Amino acid sequence: MKKITIAIDGFSSTGKSTIAKQLAKKLSYVYVDTGAMYRAVALYALRNDYVGGEETNIDGLVAALPEITLNFKKNNATGNADVFLNGENVEDEIRTLRVSNVVSVVAAVSEVRQKLVEQQQKMGSEKGVVMDGRDIGTVVFPDAELKLFMTASAYKRAVRRYKELIDKGETVSYDEVLKNVQERDRIDATREDSPLVKAEDAIEFDNSDMGIEEQFERIYNFALRIIEKA
Ligand code: DC
Repeated sequence: MKKITIAIDGFSSTGKSTIAKQLAKKLSYVYVDTGAMYRAVALYALRNDYVGGEETNIDGLVAALPEITLNFKKNNATGNADVFLNGENVEDEIRTLRVSNVVSVVAAVSEVRQKLVEQQQKMGSEKGVVMDGRDIGTVVFPDAELKLFMTASAYKRAVRRYKELIDKGETVSYDEVLKNVQERDRIDATREDSPLVKAEDAIEFDNSDMGIEEQFERIYNFALRIIEKA
């Protein structure tokens, strides 16, 4: 059977990665979490004081980009791929609120996007990939055979993210998480380079009130229909 490219875009905490992982598993496709790549660059920027302090040094970060290498390696315990920054597994550290608070600023830098988009296009060049992010259907794979655009209310998304962080032992308040979700929405949707927009040919899913299983069934059936025709 012919392989296709599946692009899943949408706002933060809309469950993109849950659906993308399930879809990749069921189809035996590769799953690529592009948000993890932006988060890993943001972590690098934090560690080297390019962001997060009183002054932001974007020029410094751009100059340091050749020093940054990102890879994914399968984690046999979770069955998912972990992201590595210059050989170090940073999968857990990139999910903290400290990184979430600066990642949109880093993801708005054109040179960062150029570098990561190039790597993402290489990773998906053989098709048989499910990639999630903000610009997959518009910039990375504008010819993807299946494009999904996920939305949900900011309040529902903040509840989901809050629960995740609490489960991981972070000390955060719901209001702090809601503020971060809303601020990231604003920066991601209004940045000049590749803002978060729905591709014209993407199917929109508002999952504020839809369970994961129902969503997955519907999306999987879309994928099967396209794969059969490909
Ligand atoms: O999906 P996420 O919340 O892990 O993404 C982290 C940030 O990275 C998000 O605020 C926007 C940015 N991002 C992006 O600009 N383009 C992508 N393809 C993926 C993520």
